[in-house]
Amino acid sequence: MALNNLETITQDMRRLDAFLREGLDDANKKGISLNRTKHARLLNMACGRADETEVLNKLLLEKSESTELIGVDLRHREIEMAQTRWTNLGEKSDAQFLNFDATKLNEHQSLQDKNDIAFFRHQNFWNGPKIWREIFENSIDTVKEDGLIMITSYFDKEHELAVKELTDQGLELVSDIKNEQSRLILPSCEKSVDRHLAIFKKR
Ligand SMILES: C[S@@+](CC[C@H](N)C(=O)[O-])C[C@H]1O[C@@H](n2cnc3c(N)ncnc32)[C@H](O)[C@@H]1O
Repeated sequence: MALNNLETITQDMRRLDAFLREGLDDANKKGISLNRTKHARLLNMACGRADETEVLNKLLLEKSESTELIGVDLRHREIEMAQTRWTNLGEKSDAQFLNFDATKLNEHQSLQDKNDIAFFRHQNFWNGPKIWREIFENSIDTVKEDGLIMITSYFDKEHELAVKELTDQGLELVSDIKNEQSRLILPSCEKSVDRHLAIFKKR
């Protein structure tokens, strides 16, 4: 990866870390927080290269003794990149990256029932509502009753659509914040990195 690209990603990750903490603090004001648990498991759906793996792991480790992060994406190349990059998160943590169609998540028995968080960075609901409805439904099913569902979005309309979909699916919205520091992807466009964050719980 080119150095300037790496620097940009590092800065995005710094902003994402702060943004996730802001969202969790906001949820906390409503009495909702990340589970304190011995072993935390997070499902990172449609994770692509999963740049955010270390940021997520650090957050989980503040509340648990050990962690497991499972990334899923259709794109083989991105999954390979994630696998190569995140081989060693330290002795308390394990990360796996799986290359399969997330609409088929319910066919993967070992990924059911035990997840503390289903995370979707830059979810893509607006681009394929039928497929994403299924991805959301299957993922929510795997989250523990007291777990969280978190999404980030690149632009306002897609965020609005995804939030509506998830609340229509019966989730309770516990935080919905905008990142004023978010990096514009192109100077003139309304699309930026981790522009919105929404956190939901099951009812
Ligand atoms: C907007 S990108 C976000 C990628 C990554 N989370 C990020 O923030 O950079 C959407 C991702 O959804 C993945 N995707 C789309 N449909 C999928 C499916 N049915 N199963 C798994 N991944 C899927 C794409 O391969 C792509 O990596």
